[in-house]
Amino acid sequence: MAADKRGEFEDQVVLVTGAASGIGRAVALMLHERGARVVAEDKNPMVEALARPGLIPLVADITLDGAAQKAVATAIAHFGRLDILVNNAGIIINKRVVDMTRDDWDRIQAVNVTAAFLHAREAVHAMIPNRKGAIVNIASYAAYQAFPTIAAYAASKGALAQLTRALALEAIDHGIRVNAVGSGDVVTNILNDVVEDGPDFLARHGEKTPIKRAAQPEEIAEVVAFLASDRASYIVGSVVMADGGMSVPAGA
Ligand SMILES: NC(=O)c1ccc[n+]([C@@H]2O[C@H](COP(=O)([O-])OP(=O)(O)OC[C@H]3O[C@@H](n4cnc5c(N)ncnc54)[C@H](O)[C@@H]3O)[C@@H](O)[C@H]2O)c1
Repeated sequence: MAADKRGEFEDQVVLVTGAASGIGRAVALMLHERGARVVAEDKNPMVEALARPGLIPLVADITLDGAAQKAVATAIAHFGRLDILVNNAGIIINKRVVDMTRDDWDRIQAVNVTAAFLHAREAVHAMIPNRKGAIVNIASYAAYQAFPTIAAYAASKGALAQLTRALALEAIDHGIRVNAVGSGDVVTNILNDVVEDGPDFLARHGEKTPIKRAAQPEEIAEVVAFLASDRASYIVGSVVMADGGMSVPAGA
């Protein structure tokens, strides 16, 4: 599959947040392999392991003031432009609302929504002169579905889905398409601070979905690549579900 699309992103410049691990790492490597030049941003210095010609790691906390400006400026300084932003970084804190602190709530919203807004705003500024661009936000089935302990995360992903739709209607006037992926369970490190066996937990949780398994990060990266590409030229403001059927309302 990758060989068919080699060169698809030739001459395009991509910024991916949360690129040290999981879905973001898979997106950065897949788009780079298909010809993009990539800025891979993460607070985890492990992102530096991705360094190679045409792929610049940027160690940064995306929630800090000025981070979005610096990330977009890095893309322009190294590669001359920005064509694609993937707002991927995200965190989870699993607590019931009665046990959740203000700090827990604020940290989730800061990473999952506010940083996505700030990066999108800077990206749109950089893309407007080109009259073209694509932004892909990584949402979740939790934008639509809920279970106990997920309130802060679900609220953040619901907000990200609505940011996607509202911004899409503004940005399309400039030829910039904004969409999101509604991801299901993916075998990544996102639960490592929540449970002892994060990736295994996600693999087991995925067995409860209609497809009866969790996704690998590359399966979500494929959807991101499609939405970021000209193949998705008529898709604007969509949250494309890639969740193994998790969000399908079950019939009797
Ligand atoms: N894994 C799943 O089951 C699943 C399901 C639905 C949605 N998602 C979403 O997918 C996205 C990627 O998550 P993942 O599963 O690959 O997790 P992951 O933990 O493997 O990767 C997330 C990356 O984001 C980085 N990050 C977190 N906070 C940051 C910050 N403040 N500044 C910079 N980088 C930061 C982390 O260091 C990490 O490298 C998230 O938005 C997550 O909510 C994941």
